[in-house]
Amino acid sequence: MARITLRQLLDHAAEHSYGVPAFNINNMEQGLAILEAAQACDAPVILQASRGARSYAGDIMLAKMMEALEAMFPAIPIVIHQDHGNTVATCLSAIQNGFTSVMMDGSLKEDAKTPADYAYNAGITGEVGRLAHMVGASVEGELGCLGSLETGEGEAEDGHGFEGALDHAMLLTDPDEAERFVAETGVDALAVALGTSHGAYKFSRKPTGDILAMEVIEKIHARLPNTHIVMHGSSSVPEEWQEVFNAHGGAMRETYGVPVEELVRGIRHGVRKINIDTDLRLAAAAEFRRVAQTSPSEFDPRKFLKPSMDAMASICRARFEAFGTAGQASKITPLPMSEMAKRYASGSLNPTPSLARAAA
Ligand code: G3H
Ligand code: 13P
Ligand code: ZN
Repeated sequence: MARITLRQLLDHAAEHSYGVPAFNINNMEQGLAILEAAQACDAPVILQASRGARSYAGDIMLAKMMEALEAMFPAIPIVIHQDHGNTVATCLSAIQNGFTSVMMDGSLKEDAKTPADYAYNAGITGEVGRLAHMVGASVEGELGCLGSLETGEGEAEDGHGFEGALDHAMLLTDPDEAERFVAETGVDALAVALGTSHGAYKFSRKPTGDILAMEVIEKIHARLPNTHIVMHGSSSVPEEWQEVFNAHGGAMRETYGVPVEELVRGIRHGVRKINIDTDLRLAAAAEFRRVAQTSPSEFDPRKFLKPSMDAMASICRARFEAFGTAGQASKITPLPMSEMAKRYASGSLNPTPSLARAAA
């Protein structure tokens, strides 16, 4: 069994200068595709479940599926992470269900739509941090709101994210505030806003620095060299999968994601966790469409699902290789959450330099 915490994995990634894709999971096919790709290239894995995934599959099914994946792939260290937790209760119930890591997204209020102020965000994230660390689980926080610098709009595409327009300042994480937030909350990883958004429609053209503000990462990393940075909305929305999707009856308008080379650039500046959901959804759906259109008499779901799994696995493998995750699984000796809890309690995991300054 190799269930590990996000903190252990990201510390290893920082020490060895690599990044880890965090893939969203809702069902068995995604789980098998991700783990088969990981096993093929010896990569550690972050599996993350959104609140939507938890209600789609159910907590018992998700928990048992994670156990099954661990049993089938014992050599692969696996982090099980709550994506975009909106309340303390969501985060704690995830830990109760075997998650080793939670994201408390206090950038938005509980409705996951209304932008929250700094005090609310730092307060609730710090509270989750204190509780989660007592049992050794890791915590990711988010400062700044995900959304488009082209339009100022948040994305309602997958049902969460603010609605309407926000000004530039809220769409870009402020490095001063980031330093304060990390010191006040003790988060293990910090998600930042730099112009990415969830879903397929991120950019209307190949992004340049004015709409994908990579310099935010560079500035935050310079201030907080020991803080693990997280990039959300990091699907690349590959053109080749858009083509397969559209060639078989799909209707995806012209769109651009985050180029893999920008993600690799981020990794050079402290990005350790790279969130990817849309790419696997798109590739799986494109293969569904292809089979449906080219074999109209087919009605065995496995004939649709197997090509979808192969497509998802090929994207996972490509990201593991591009981010330097490949080859790292066998170098990690899993630490149980109880050991992580002792380390938090003794203060040996924190403080980062900024925490030390804040405490002094
Ligand atoms: O956070 C965004 C992920 O793509 C999860 O989306 O809430 O539709 O599962 P979801
Ligand atoms: P994408 O929609 O770009 O895949 O982002 C997923 C994500 O950030 C999940 O938290
Ligand atoms: Zn996200």
